[in-house]
Amino acid sequence: MSAMGVFTGLTSFDPVPSVRRSKAVVVTVATRPPENAILGVPVAQDGDIPAVVGLDRDTLEKAGFEGKTGQSMVIPRADAAPLVLIGIGEPAALDPDKLRDAAAAFARATEARADLAWTLPEGESVAPALAAQTAVEGILLARYRYDALKEAATVTPVSNIGLVVDSRRSAAARRGAAKGQAMAEATQIARDLANSPPAYLTATRMAEVAVELGSERGLQVEVFDKDQLIEMGCGGLLGVNAGSAEPPRMIKLTYRPPAKPRAHLTLVGKGIMYDAGGIAIKPGDAVHATMKNDMSGAAAILAAMSELAAQGCKTAVTGYLMCTDNVPSGTAIAMGEVLRIRGGKTVEVANTDAEGRLVMADAMVLATEDPTDAIVDIATLTGAAMRALGTQVAGLIGNNAAVVEQVEAAAAATGESVWELPLERRYRGELNSEVADIKNLGGANAGAITAGLFLEEFVAGKPWAHIDIAGTAQNDRDTSWRPPGCTGFGARLLIEFALNFTRPRA
Ligand code: BES
Ligand code: ZN
Ligand code: MN
Repeated sequence: MSAMGVFTGLTSFDPVPSVRRSKAVVVTVATRPPENAILGVPVAQDGDIPAVVGLDRDTLEKAGFEGKTGQSMVIPRADAAPLVLIGIGEPAALDPDKLRDAAAAFARATEARADLAWTLPEGESVAPALAAQTAVEGILLARYRYDALKEAATVTPVSNIGLVVDSRRSAAARRGAAKGQAMAEATQIARDLANSPPAYLTATRMAEVAVELGSERGLQVEVFDKDQLIEMGCGGLLGVNAGSAEPPRMIKLTYRPPAKPRAHLTLVGKGIMYDAGGIAIKPGDAVHATMKNDMSGAAAILAAMSELAAQGCKTAVTGYLMCTDNVPSGTAIAMGEVLRIRGGKTVEVANTDAEGRLVMADAMVLATEDPTDAIVDIATLTGAAMRALGTQVAGLIGNNAAVVEQVEAAAAATGESVWELPLERRYRGELNSEVADIKNLGGANAGAITAGLFLEEFVAGKPWAHIDIAGTAQNDRDTSWRPPGCTGFGARLLIEFALNFTRPRA
């Protein structure tokens, strides 16, 4: 038992209840809605009203429902469960993001119901597989709440989703629904992990979860403890861990497709279980309670990789999760300390709160030691990325246009938005150190970019992209399919990216 387990008293705490819950959700595709299920019907601002509604546009408009985005209307029925109309706006402007939002609005409007049915919209503006996928995502993610530590659940969990679609489109819808379930489950796993308080989800416990989940999902999981990390020369992870009563863990996940892999991808995740700043301790504002989410990158990788086998991913994927907390104590590293990263480069620790790049540097080097076609890292790395792009768009930096474009394509497909920042080498000088090969902090400006420049030093020129999720990992408002708290951002993006990955040309 961990030292912290003593005061939480919950050694049997399950950090990922969503795995159990998502197994209980049954998604069906049929031409008619299941009986007793409340039926959601997306209705556009123009065009025919779906026949099931049984009312014409004029009647609906007189009642105040025009099909605009954000509008909804409940229609009671004498002989069946009610209908809920959800406005989806201009039919020509319909896209997968809007459909995900519409399904989320439906799941919220029907909060006390466990059995839901949803009509896929007519027309071809969104392919049926994507319409089904986004519907399942929107419904399940809107109903997510982190209530593992509450006496009772705060929302009714969904048990059944019946998708209603004509028989011509049902095969595609079935495929999309299965993918949507995988996407939603991965996000739920990532949310659960990131929302878990630091004493409940230590690096040790994270590794136990990875072993359990990974072996269930066809991953090979290797866990490296402190002695092994010393042996391997992982001075970045060890340095950050030096102040902690909790030992570090490096978790290596390996997914291999059944046939010869189409390509090979390596993922690196920041796994700071709690970021107190080290001896550069953060102030006591309430906002720093969110620093339990500083392992959101590692969580997104574990969650995404857990779905790859079931989704038939053809690319081999290796993941490194770099786990420790970053806390002050008499054994913590000082400012001015010099750490030796795996492979030998030395780093002057100009600020102990710029710890993410230190733990990731070891993994970047490890990633370059085996054959790989691309390295992608994901991290709640810089407040600067959040300042620049806010909480809805992640920062993206890379040294290879093809990899960057593939990340952008996955972001567009999943609605997990990214925006590329330049890997501006004119700022590289800010990382020069008098005493070491490099220091871990640049100047006051462009902090997201100098963090990227630091990471680039460790990829040995291999195709690489970096996703900074400092802003997108956390949501303080309750919107659409994002309830307040940790968002699980990146899990869906990484699944999409891995499934479509092609080797960049050299
Ligand atoms: N984990 C933080 C970055 C972060 C900030 C994530 C806000 C989410 C929200 C990172 O380790 C950090 O502390 N960065 C500092 C570095 C600075 C003090 C040198 C930052 O960006 O403010
Ligand atoms: Zn951090
Ligand atoms: Mn920090």
